[in-house]
This record gives sequence, C-alpha cells and structure tokens, in this order.
Amino acid sequence: MRRLLVEWRCLLVMGLALLWKGKTQSINGFCVETRVLLRSTRVLQTTKKLFSASSHGSSSSLRKILSSSIRMESKDSSTSCCKRAQKISLDNLDQCGKRLREGGLVAFPTETVYGLGANAMNERACRSIFAAKERPLTDPLIVHVTTNEEALSLWNAENGSTERHLLENLCSAFWPGPLTLVAKAGSKVPLVVMAGTGFVACRNPNHAIARAIIDAAGVPIAAPSANKFGHVSPTTAEHVWDDLHEEDVWIIESDESHEMEDQRKIMSCHVGVESSVVKLEMLQNNKAQLTMLRQGAISVEQLERFIEKSEIDNDSVEVLSNFKEVTFHNEATVSPGQSIRHYSPNVPSCLASDKCRSMPIGILSKLELEILKSTVIVDYGKSMLPWKNFALQYRDLSESCNSSEAAQHVFHTLRWAEHVPGVSLILLPDLSPPHKNDALALAVKDRLTRAASGKVVQCLVESQTKR
Ligand code: TXA
Ligand code: MG
Repeated sequence: MRRLLVEWRCLLVMGLALLWKGKTQSINGFCVETRVLLRSTRVLQTTKKLFSASSHGSSSSLRKILSSSIRMESKDSSTSCCKRAQKISLDNLDQCGKRLREGGLVAFPTETVYGLGANAMNERACRSIFAAKERPLTDPLIVHVTTNEEALSLWNAENGSTERHLLENLCSAFWPGPLTLVAKAGSKVPLVVMAGTGFVACRNPNHAIARAIIDAAGVPIAAPSANKFGHVSPTTAEHVWDDLHEEDVWIIESDESHEMEDQRKIMSCHVGVESSVVKLEMLQNNKAQLTMLRQGAISVEQLERFIEKSEIDNDSVEVLSNFKEVTFHNEATVSPGQSIRHYSPNVPSCLASDKCRSMPIGILSKLELEILKSTVIVDYGKSMLPWKNFALQYRDLSESCNSSEAAQHVFHTLRWAEHVPGVSLILLPDLSPPHKNDALALAVKDRLTRAASGKVVQCLVESQTKR
C-alpha cells in the first residue's frame, strides 16, 4: 500500500513536469523541466530498489543502493546544462558561514587542497557532499575544526586515558597543519560522516580563509577535496568550478595570494597535496598504534620523533606505515577511499619506467614517435627532457627534484595536461622510491601512481595496450 502511494506521488510529479515542459525553457539559466523529469524517474527507480532491498532485510544492500542512487542522481544531472554553482568573493565570508550553518555547501581553500564543506553535525548537509561529488557513502569525511578542544569533543577518548593523552599531545604538536587524526568517534558524530566505521577523522587546518569560514559557521565542517570522486584534487577555485559548476555550491575565489585583515599574505593550497591521514587505535594491554593511512606533508618519521621527544612512554606506542607503495596489482585498501584509481585525469595516463625514460630519441620507432605527437609529458627532474620537442606538450613538476615544489604543482599540472587540445596520452614519471623522511616526495609518487591507476610501461608502444 505504502509502495503504491509513493509510486503514485512520483507519477504525479512526472505529470506536472510534463505539463510544465514546453512552457518553461529555462528559469534563471536552470533547465528546470529536465531536472524535474530526471529526478522523478530516479525517485521511482530508487523507491523500487529500496523496497526490494528492505524486503530481503539486508542493510548492506540498502547501503549500496543508497550510494548508487546518489551517484545516479549526479550523473543524470550532468547531462543538463545547468550552472548552479556561484563564485563568491572573500568579502562574503560571514554569508558563507551562515550558508554552511544552515546546511548549504561551500568550497573553500585550505593549505593542502580546496575542500567541499558542509555542516558536519547536519546529516542531510553531509549527504549532499556525497551527491555533489558522486562519492560512495562508504568513504568517510574529514571534520575540520579550529580548536583542539573541538576535535577532542568529537572523539571518544576518556579524560585520563592513554588515548586522550596521546591525542592531546598530537594535536598540540602538529596542529594547525596538514595532519588528519582518525580516532574512535563520540556519540554526537553522524554515522554518514564516519561511513559507519565508528572512527572519525578530524583536522585543524592552517589556512586563514579556511579558519575564518569554520569560525563564521560556528560548527565543525565536514570537507573532502572539492572534486568529482576519483578525479584530480583541486587547488584553485577554477578547478572546483570545472568539476562542480552544476552543483548547488558556493565557491570561494582565492586563486592568488590574498591579504587578510591582519595584513598577512596567504597563498591558497601552498602544500598542494592532501593532509597525511593517521589513525589511532588502542590495542590490548593499553598499547597504542598510530598508522599512516595516506601520505601528505607529515612523515612517519616526524611522528616517531614526536613520540620519542614527548613524555609519552615510547614502548606504549607503535607507529606503522600502512601506506603501502601502490601498484597495479597491489591495491592499497587500508583506508576507505584510497583506491588505486584516484586523482585520475580524464585522459589515459601511465607511468614511464626508468628503462622507458632512458631511451634516446634516435632509437624510438616510427610508431613511438607518432604516439609522442599526441602525448603530454609531465616530468620530474628533467628525466624526459630529450623527448620534449617530439611531444605534444611538456612540463616539469620540479626540474631540481624539489619535492615541495613538485607537490605544489602536481594537481595543477595533471589538470592542465588533460585539457591540452589533441592529447591522447599523459606520460608520468615512475619515480624511484624516495627516502622515507621525504614526506612530500612520497606523496607525489603516490599521487602520480594513482593518477596512472598504477600502470607502468617499459616502452611507449606498451602505453597503447595498457589503456
Ligand atoms: O587535506 C585534506 O585532507 C583535504 C582538505 C580539504 O582538508 N581533505 C581531503 O578529504 O583530502 P578527502 O575526503 O578527499 O580524503 C579524506 C581521506 C579519505 O581517503 C578517507 O577515506 C580518509 O581520509 N578518512 C576519512 N575519515 C576516515 C575514517 N574515519 N577512517 C579512515 N579513513 C578516513
Ligand atoms: Mg579526495
């Protein structure tokens, strides 16, 4: 009976939308009728699926359907011509705070990458992040705060416990900054934020605009990177616009360095890659384990040094790097959301091995020279410089192998590469394993490997078969 009622309601909406079509071509530039029609068809499909799932009583299938319906919704809307996003100047930070508090989406710069923010305490607002990004609900969100106390109130770490002591010390040592700490979640954290894992990730960013926005909102802000799921992370407002202009998002414009009220000049996304994600788990006999899930600017070595120097009993804490070097065959699944195909340009991309990159141009075959003509090379340390004049375009992330320079440029360059007219292949360097203390070199290697979905080629011809 209930099912029939829901379906009738959907049919009514479709009917109204059909009547509307023809009268309304566009309202405020929105293709309203297309969206209404698409929405109502989807509601019908989703409702049907939900009923069949619940009749089987499976919560995991229900979860899959919820996530697929969200993806479906966003995919359909990309066929319409709507531009719903708005660029917002820095003069409107208070309005942005209000919008966030009331459940809207605002994309803002941080010191790492642009984030797509929503009120972390509002389940509906958080769900709209997943819809806008087309991100599966199984991938948890990072909650952004501006005080350590706020993060501590989101975690479930009792006063006086080793866990609490460790978290307090980690926050004081590394915050504000590009470190995300994952720990057991307190009861007020919505399930959708932690993707049902029981753990919540918190980060206190070191960027004046990000901090001003969070403070203006007056609530903790859930914010993943502001890109479509799986695409290259954004480091400028323009990148966010490219991915999310069809979504109901305000995008704060801050592409160059800006002067804040206190005269400080700040550059947006100057780190260039996302924060290091570290998870704290308590083992039996009160031992703590810190695991690096994603490599950013903070290294495992920095964590180890912090433990050594602090008053914390060194034997009671173990630091692990579960951040494995990813390959095509060894997908790193330690952190939800860290799949091998991530940060991917919209053009086939692969890593050129040392052997491939060392081939003198004179011995390349006709076919290989032909491939180069439509190839964009993204280099590191001039390793493919001899091929520059034979390629469609060429850019070096850092000629001098400076890892922080490369990190700053990596996402911008990947996005530039996919937009070069005529490009059919992006060739990236397969970097040799960096020193474990060079966090940003590890991070750049990781992002390049995932951008190429782990595909390494020994010669250019292979790039044609490994697509
Ligand atoms: O630098 C950053 O961290 C940026 C800026 C905007 O702050 N944010 C960001 O968020 O990169 P996102 O959602 O794109 O990546 C967050 C990563 C994902 O791999 C996610 O799976 C992991 O952190 N993560 C979040 N919550 C987690 C949890 N409860 N347990 C394990 N991993 C978690
Ligand atoms: Mg991301």
